[in-house]
Amino acid sequence: MKKLVFATNNKNKLREVQQMLEGLYTLVTPAELGITEEIPENQTTIEGNSSQKSRYIHDKLGIDCFADDTGLEVEALNGAPGVHSARYAGEAKKSEDNIALLLKNLEGISNRRARFRTVISLILNNEEHRFEGTVEGRITTSCNGTAGFGYDPVFVPDGYDITFAEMDAAEKNRISHRGKAIAKLVEYLKSLQ
Ligand code: IMP
Repeated sequence: MKKLVFATNNKNKLREVQQMLEGLYTLVTPAELGITEEIPENQTTIEGNSSQKSRYIHDKLGIDCFADDTGLEVEALNGAPGVHSARYAGEAKKSEDNIALLLKNLEGISNRRARFRTVISLILNNEEHRFEGTVEGRITTSCNGTAGFGYDPVFVPDGYDITFAEMDAAEKNRISHRGKAIAKLVEYLKSLQ
């Protein structure tokens, strides 16, 4: 089976994508190949971070790989927190703090439009390919639900009246930013067979 590195330390993401690529590729993590340091992601855009992570692994190991990067883009905040989503309220990367700051910054603002955007950078045979997935929705005024992670308790996707944190994982993956980007990646990899 061909090997492909997924530049992530997130076991849930790894399992999810591996299931979709069953029979085509065996996914390997940087840690399994001896890369124990944190992979740098200090660019100013989601695209930049996604590329930086896949290029870092490719430069070090010389094998095909991909990375993903996601941000929450809020219209009334000119696209913030965007590329800073994980660290919006500080280096501790705490979701409760990030959500509290987001709700505070949106206090009194009626435009609650927002989108999640994921960019995947794939480096295959030394060529980079990008895949993007987005989901449009709105930010609530308080938290609802306990499933998921990050900003899920305050994000209601268009066409629904529940947050991502009130959905089961399969339903979220079907309509989510990351789910859509991964589906495009998988479709591309399958088209090469
Ligand atoms: P990452 O690039 O996947 O690590 O995502 C960066 C940050 O965006 C995370 O730390 C979360 O705060 C937020 N985020 C990414 N994906 C989701 C999601 O599916 N739901 C809620 N928040 C998310």
